[in-house]
Formats: sequence, C-alpha cells, structure tokens
Amino acid sequence: MTERTIKVEVKRQSGPDAKAFTETFEIPYRPNMNITSLLGEIALNPRAINGAESTPITYDSNCLEEICGSCAMLINGKAMMACSALVDKLLGAVEHGQKPDLSKTITLAPLSKFPVVRDLAVDRSVLFENLKAVKAWVPIDGTYDLGAAPRQHPQIQEERYPLSNCISCTICMEVCPQFNDVTGFVGAATIAQTKLFNMDPAGSVLKEERLRALAGDGGIQECGFAQNCVQACPKQLPLTEAISDIGRDVFIQQVKDFFTH
Ligand code: SF4
Ligand code: FES
Repeated sequence: MTERTIKVEVKRQSGPDAKAFTETFEIPYRPNMNITSLLGEIALNPRAINGAESTPITYDSNCLEEICGSCAMLINGKAMMACSALVDKLLGAVEHGQKPDLSKTITLAPLSKFPVVRDLAVDRSVLFENLKAVKAWVPIDGTYDLGAAPRQHPQIQEERYPLSNCISCTICMEVCPQFNDVTGFVGAATIAQTKLFNMDPAGSVLKEERLRALAGDGGIQECGFAQNCVQACPKQLPLTEAISDIGRDVFIQQVKDFFTH
C-alpha cells in the first residue's frame, strides 16, 4: 500500500533582508495533526519534494495551546495560530470521521505586516511598543506589601475578563486594513488593553494619559470599522465594543483638555 502523504508549500526566507522563495515538502499523513506537529514532521526529515536536502523551518511556538500567542502565521492565506489549526480540517474534513482530501496542498507563510526574522518567524515588537505607549499596566510599587487590591463590582469584572484573554498574537493587526505604515494605527489589541486597564480601580490612575496617547496620529481615529479584527481574533475579544467605548472616552478627554489647558 502506498503511503498517504500531505503536500505543504512554505514561504521561506533565510533572514530579514534575504529574498523569499517557496519550498514544497511532502510528509506522511497522520490523523489529528496540527500545523505545529506538521512543521515538526518536516524538521525530522527536511527534504523538499524534489528530493533536495533542505533545512528545518523556523517558526515561533511555545505553549502549544493557544495561550502564548507566538505561533500566528498565514495558513492557506488566513491568519491563524499554528497550534490550534488542525490539518484534517484544513484538508476539508470538517466533520469528525470525514476523510481529508490529500490532493489539497497546505500553504504556510509568515504574517505579511511584520518584518520577517526568518521563514515563518516575524518581529511583532510593534505591538509591545504600542502597549508601552498606552501604559497597558497597573502602576503598583511591588517592593512592599500593599494589602488587598481595591474591590471590583462583579459587573465590571465580567466586562474586563474577556479583554484580559488577549494573547498578543497580532492577528487583529494583520487583518486590519488600517494597520500599515501610512496610518501608523496602533491596532485593536492596544485599544482593548487600554479599556482593560482604564477599568481597573488601580490602573485607572493612568486613564487620562492612556486616552491622550490614543488621541493623536496613529490613534483611535485611524480605525475604519472594517471589523476584520473581531472576526479573526482567536480569543474572541469584544474588539469593536472596546474601540467604540475608547473612541467615546478619547473624545470626552479631548473636550476636557480643550477647556482646561
Ligand atoms: S486582540 Fe485577539 S487577535 Fe488581537 S492580539 Fe489579542 S488575542 Fe490576538
Ligand atoms: S504555541 Fe502558544 S499560541 Fe500557539
């Protein structure tokens, strides 16, 4: 019996300034693989489909359970997490027990809006710079015991909890038409974290600074309400709601500043 195989086409690049090229691999099919295990399979025997010796593919990965946010990439052209993207499903087996279509080829490419480090690994530090710009943290002095944190109303907790699920994967930025060099838009994740920390009883001390940081170029007014972010977010953050809430707060802050400065 001939071995059942999967074809995988990978966009590769040996370094930030190197020319990109495509390499196709053929690996043994096993049921219930995800893209991370498929990449591991290639690493076991990195040989292109024409028999030429190759190298293992570089990609970021850590938790393997959609928590660390590091493994985002373009899978069949769509921004997804490699650890939760199931090979059988990508090959058309939508229902459990359905046979995958092994004549299909899976394509893998790095996220397109971030500088490539190597192969599928990209530099996503822009998100962390944006989070720093809005001070996405609770400013506490951790050098001595501050006692219990301020109490939060359960309704506030419920509103904040989904926002705290952000895994910094940058998929919302990748799919946003406004996230580009021209607008310098911070992207939905940063706005959602602004709302999360502004609603924190201790974090709200920096509320005005956060809102002012989102008032200028690249801030909230760059959002074009395409709503791609909310559809693509793997953790289902209520991004459009956060954007409209923060949009309103930024406007109120601008009016206040106009009359007081
Ligand atoms: S908001 Fe969603 S898509 Fe954006 S970085 Fe956070 S988890 Fe990823
Ligand atoms: S490996 Fe952590 S989210 Fe995929």
